[in-house]
Amino acid sequence: MEITQAIKIQDAKLGQIGGMISEIDLTELRSNSPELKEIRDAIYRNKLIVIRNQKFTTSQYVDFTRILGTPQIYFQNNYHHPDYPEVFVSSNVNKEGEKIGVAGTGHYWHTDCQFEKKPLSFTSITPIIIPPTLRETLYIDMCEVYKKLPEDLKTIVDNAVMIHGGNNRYKVTPNDIDKSIQQLIDEMNEMVPFVKHPAVIEHPVTGDKILYMSRGFTMKIEGLSYEENEKIMGKLFDFIEKEEHIHNHSWEMGDLIIWDNRYLLHKSSKLPVGEKSKSYRIGIYDDQPFYVGLEK
Ligand SMILES: [Fe+2]
Repeated sequence: MEITQAIKIQDAKLGQIGGMISEIDLTELRSNSPELKEIRDAIYRNKLIVIRNQKFTTSQYVDFTRILGTPQIYFQNNYHHPDYPEVFVSSNVNKEGEKIGVAGTGHYWHTDCQFEKKPLSFTSITPIIIPPTLRETLYIDMCEVYKKLPEDLKTIVDNAVMIHGGNNRYKVTPNDIDKSIQQLIDEMNEMVPFVKHPAVIEHPVTGDKILYMSRGFTMKIEGLSYEENEKIMGKLFDFIEKEEHIHNHSWEMGDLIIWDNRYLLHKSSKLPVGEKSKSYRIGIYDDQPFYVGLEK
């Protein structure tokens, strides 16, 4: 039976990101619920949505991502939840000497899985332990950045191709003891070879043009010399990361946040020493290509 709820969606103000969804219990949704399309459309329209006051078990969280799209199983299993491989655990809290998940993830500007041939469409996150002082995630809307880009930089990125890699951000695991740095680099290059994507991508649903690069994962612009590349990438990153382009989200328990990785860069705030933090993330593929021209 189809269950419909009085879903309430409050869109972001013009030029802002982040719609707010309320009056919904995600555990009540089924694969044929009309609310799923409303949620997907709200993500495309608002780039990020916050769904407040959710109470779900880990299993119910996974079930929800299965009906919204296709949950990702991250390629490195040291991030996996012990019972649910779809759940990527970001945590500095360990139980009885057993390490679960990975601490200190994403403290740099990036967009998830930019180093893959088919990057991740949506990221969803829910907090499990929020540190007592503050936990924030910061975002930059790369569609707005592209619109505001100075003409000289716009000329460079239009029709350019960029090369991305995740190797510099690899986190060593207990299995890496006794390996040399070169050995780790070689293994990473084999596991996740560098990929190319257009510097400006076209969103498959909205048609928006988006500058697709991040300091975390973008290595270079194809065809430029080392010196030219360093100079231009430096200018681009400095422009992108300007204070006025940054939006903050402060976490509350019960939040489920979902954003579109085509549009947004993100980074997590620094954690004060000694404070505990834990969150669950599930990457979700929608049924669209990542950008116009890339196969699904
Ligand atoms: Fe991330």
